[in-house]
Amino acid sequence: MRQKVTIHSLQEKVRNGEKITMLTCYDYPMALLEEKAGIDIILCGDSMAMTVFGHENTLGMTMDPMILHAQAVRKGAPGAFLVGDMPYMSYQISPQEAIRNAGRYMAEAGCDAVKLEGGANMAKTVEALVNATIPVMGHLGLTPQSIAQLGGFKSQGRDAEGAKKIIEDARILEEAGISLLLLEAVPPEVGAIIAERAKIPVIGIGAGPHVHGQLLIVHDALGFFDAFTPKFVKKYLDLNSSILEALENYKQDVVEGRFPQEEHCYKFKAGELEKLYQQLE
Ligand code: KIV
Repeated sequence: MRQKVTIHSLQEKVRNGEKITMLTCYDYPMALLEEKAGIDIILCGDSMAMTVFGHENTLGMTMDPMILHAQAVRKGAPGAFLVGDMPYMSYQISPQEAIRNAGRYMAEAGCDAVKLEGGANMAKTVEALVNATIPVMGHLGLTPQSIAQLGGFKSQGRDAEGAKKIIEDARILEEAGISLLLLEAVPPEVGAIIAERAKIPVIGIGAGPHVHGQLLIVHDALGFFDAFTPKFVKKYLDLNSSILEALENYKQDVVEGRFPQEEHCYKFKAGELEKLYQQLE
């Protein structure tokens, strides 16, 4: 088993100029593979609302299913730094509510940190979580839980005012005590400025190459989700086509009597089949 990834080993990577790898994960079999591949950080993300449960956005996710999925991921990937994503309205209502829900990720699912969306408006909540011993990953730029305000899944920080706000929010979150920062769908220059100024690891998903590490949604990277594909996605596999081909082959085999074959069938113990036939006469 590999050595456990910790906030200290991630900081060490940044100091050594090594890039950090991060993927989402929602279940045990994928977690086994991500662990085997040596992925540093795993996000049990509320993107599962869309990739696993077929919702149009992430707003419908709640704590109970998130905890269940995070537990499965932890089992499959004991060495990864596991981040539990705080679902919509699990932390916005009050810092107390945030502590209660984030604490469940730590105690019930063995997470190493939680992630929440927002900037200066979340500083007090971040402080409360850190005071309660819960490490926090911030999330700025395109924050999917704010799509109603953002007007959809739109890239952010593409004008000077918008970029300055994200850069300022990053500073405020770091002062509030976040251990890691995620930047989503912003120009590479914004990623570069924030990563250069930050004393914490800055991970990007669509934030260019100058940040300290990269995140992709695993279903995007494997071509297993094609409702839409953001600009920042690189597909490493066309899993949808491979799975569809396999399912169609299975169907044809059954329909045309090619499955099951002898090797897929159980054999009677010696002499028992004859005995059965006699008893049935
Ligand atoms: O839930 C998730 O996977 C996320 C990513 C979109 C960054 O928050």
